[in-house]
Order: sequence, then structure tokens, then C-alpha cells
Amino acid sequence: MGVVLALDQGTTSSRAILFDHAGSVVGVAQQEFEQHYPRPGWVEHDADEIWNSQHAVAVEVLAKCDCKASDVEAIGITNQRETTLLWDRTTGQPIHPAIVWQDRRTAGYCDSLVAAGHGQQVRDTTGLLIDPYFCATKIHWLLENVPGARARAERGELAFGTIDSWLIWKLTGGRVHVTDVTNASRTMLLNLRTCQWDESLLDLLSIPAALLPEIVESSEVYGETDAQWFGETIKIGGAAGDQQAALFGQNCTRHGMAKNTYGTGCFMLMNVGEQPQRSENKLLTSVACSAAGRREYALEGSVFVAGAAVQWLRDGLGIIESSSDVESLARSVPDSDGVYLVPAFAGLGAPHWDAYARGTLVGLTRGTHRGHIARATLEGIAFQVADVFDAMQKDTGMNIAELRVDGGASANDLLMQFQADIMKTPVVRPKVIETTALGAAYLAGLAVGFWKDIHEIESIWEAEKVFTPSLSESEVEHRRSRWAEALHRAQAWET
Ligand code: G3P
Repeated sequence: MGVVLALDQGTTSSRAILFDHAGSVVGVAQQEFEQHYPRPGWVEHDADEIWNSQHAVAVEVLAKCDCKASDVEAIGITNQRETTLLWDRTTGQPIHPAIVWQDRRTAGYCDSLVAAGHGQQVRDTTGLLIDPYFCATKIHWLLENVPGARARAERGELAFGTIDSWLIWKLTGGRVHVTDVTNASRTMLLNLRTCQWDESLLDLLSIPAALLPEIVESSEVYGETDAQWFGETIKIGGAAGDQQAALFGQNCTRHGMAKNTYGTGCFMLMNVGEQPQRSENKLLTSVACSAAGRREYALEGSVFVAGAAVQWLRDGLGIIESSSDVESLARSVPDSDGVYLVPAFAGLGAPHWDAYARGTLVGLTRGTHRGHIARATLEGIAFQVADVFDAMQKDTGMNIAELRVDGGASANDLLMQFQADIMKTPVVRPKVIETTALGAAYLAGLAVGFWKDIHEIESIWEAEKVFTPSLSESEVEHRRSRWAEALHRAQAWET
């Protein structure tokens, strides 16, 4: 019986997971790698370290599970999105460390593009807001700041890629330079309707087209691995940005289905069908997936701090020893006793987009203790997600029937119950919460016929637990209005 190998290249670690035909995890290997912060607001990764760690965990998981390369039907790739790399096409050497999605170095350039009135053009063409988050201004920075880069790019000597492109390039021994369309939709250079690079944006940002990878489907065979990596060749059958892969892994393949991934931050994506839908509520539009002859789009809301708030309780306040202790501490009190935490430690993302908001703790009394703060922290995560959820319902005019959840904090029952309560919507946790990797495995497995079609995959997905809303209407109203007040106090704090 064959397996599919998912390579999940995330912001802080490289993971490799083997899945069998039933969609069950056969084995996992993981390696963390170094984060570089050369200046305040700058975040970089060493692209060779990314590759070496990713290759090492792939070899490790195969060995652990006693699998040979010939047992692997296909490799699927999923990756941290927007992280930007340029390398030399001949030597394969990166010309600079990768600029990570969190990096803010191009904020000034973004402000100047907005001031020059390009916001609407970018929004209409790409579905995104002008922001340092996306690749385009990072590429511009590299071309302006790495000596000789612009001339080399114009001569066609350099290649640009997000991490999917880089891994495919390395795996194929430099023979294939492609990017999947979901990753391309996060560059701020893709025309969302045609799914081709947009010439007017390339002109606006002075980015030579010769740099760019070919745009490919999320599920198709791009090439084979070079025999040096695994002894024998393996087909590379799919790739998608991690949030889109999770949407696919959660089987949100129909219009109106949504998932939320609880990681360091939170990313909620909703499938909006075969036409891109423009947001009126500050959400982003991206390609959800392009597989099995169907291209679908997603609305996305990104919350910057979620699990990171629990880490703050551990590392900043020292009131828990490990992140998993937060649930029992929060359960030590019946409620937050009027305490609200707005975890805007890095400003606020969707749907508020306030870079000047700061973390705020309100409602403290002499009776407040650490249990209340732990509870308010979990609730603060859920309130942020609920705000994005509301924006999605407003944008689409739809009632989202249920929210599927995954990621580390989705294991926290107290948080999931409160999430359901405050959204007045069921929250559903699947049996396999490795949904990002599973999504990449599905995409690759579909391309090689390991799974027959999307219906076969749909039949694999299974709920582990459903959290049904149980808080009274009036209590929900009260809690949401107090949250809105706390949020108001957190906003525009930094000047
Ligand atoms: O957009 C950034 C996102 O893709 C990063 O995800 O899970 O690597 O933090 P993650």
C-alpha cells in the first residue's frame, strides 16, 4: 500500500508527514530552524537552512516508517506564504536571506504607493491591500538594495520564488521553476481573474517579468525529485499555501464552507466559489485552490495574535508553565469576572487593520487573579475570530453553517466552546487536525490518481467533536458589547 509525503514548510519549523490512503498519519518528523531579526521589524530566514531542514525531515520520516522512495506515490508541498526569495538560476545560490511574511521593512514604500493613489488598482486586480505582508514590495526592496540585483534580474539571471517554488526548484535539481496559483495570489502581482502575472503591477513596482516562475495548478505533476535526494525519483504532485491547504484538508470544497486555523495567529478562510468575491469589510480575496479542473476563491481574515497570547502568559507573565496549562487555569474560575484582554501586541489585523493598537487588559478589580486573566486571554482569541466571522457573513450575505477548526489551540475544549457560544454557530473539530499537511497530501494524491476524485476525499473527512452554542442570546450580546468597548480602548494607542 502506497503513501503520500506532505512537506509542510512553516514559519518556525519544517515538517514531513506520511499519509496512507485512509488519510491517516503514518509518521511525522519535524525540525525547528532559526529566526533572524537583523533590525527591529525585520524577519529573515536562511533559505539553505529551510531546504536542508525540509530535506532532512523527509528522509527521517521515511526511515522512521520503514518506507522506501518507491512506496511514495507523490509529494505534496505546503508552505508559509509570502516569504520572498531571489536566487541565481545558474548556481542556485540565494542572493539574500529570504524576507519573511512578518517583515515590515517595506512599510514606507507601501505608504508611498497608497499616498500615490494605487490602493484601488491593487485591490481590484489582486484582491489584497497594499501591505508589506505580501511579496511584491519585498521583491522591489531586494532589487533596490542587493548590489547588482536589478541588472542581473533584467538579464534573466535571477529567479523569484515563494517557499513552494524554492522547494520544487531544489527537489528537481534546478529543473523546474513554478509556483502554484494559491501562492501566486499572495504576491500582490497576480491578476485574480486571469490568474496570470499582471503587467501593469509589474510596471508599477519595476519588477522584471524574467524573474517570475510559471504559474501552475495546485494539483498536477510538476516534475520528479532528483535521484540524489531519496535514492529514487518521486513525483511532485501538488502545492498550496498553508492556509489554503488547510481549507482543502478540512474539505471546505463548497461555497460557504469555512475553517479557522489557530496557530501563532489565526487565519480564517471561507470558500466563496468560482468567482473572486470582493470584500467590503477589509478581508482579503485569494485563490483557494485549483484542482481537479476547478478553481475556487477564498475570503480570508488574518488575526495576528492568538496562540502567541498564551505564550505571553507563559513567557511574559510566567503564570503557566506550558501552553497546555492554560485550559486548566482558565477552568479554575467560572468566568472572566468582567476582565477582557485585547491581545493587540502587534497591532490589529482583520477586520480592524490598526497598526497602532496595543495589547489592553481592562476590568481588573482587587479580586482579579491569574485564573481570570487566563480565561480572558482565551476569550480574547475567540472574540477576535468572531469579529472576522461577522465580517465574512456581512461580505457574503450568508449564514456560515459551521466553523471547522484546526491548529494547536483547537485542542482546547474551553476555547472551542466559547468560540461556538460567542459566534452562535457550531464549531467542528475533525479527527485529523494535521489538516494543512493533509490538504497538501490530498492535492498531490489527486494528481497521481492515489485518490480518485474530490468525492473520495470528502468521504474521508470525519468530525471528532462538535461544540454547540449554549450561551443565552442576552449574555452573548452583553459580552460582545463589552468586548467592543475593550477593543475601542486598545485602538490607536501608539502614536
Ligand atoms: O500568511 C502567513 C502564513 O502562511 C504563515 O503560516 O503557519 O507558517 O505561521 P504559519
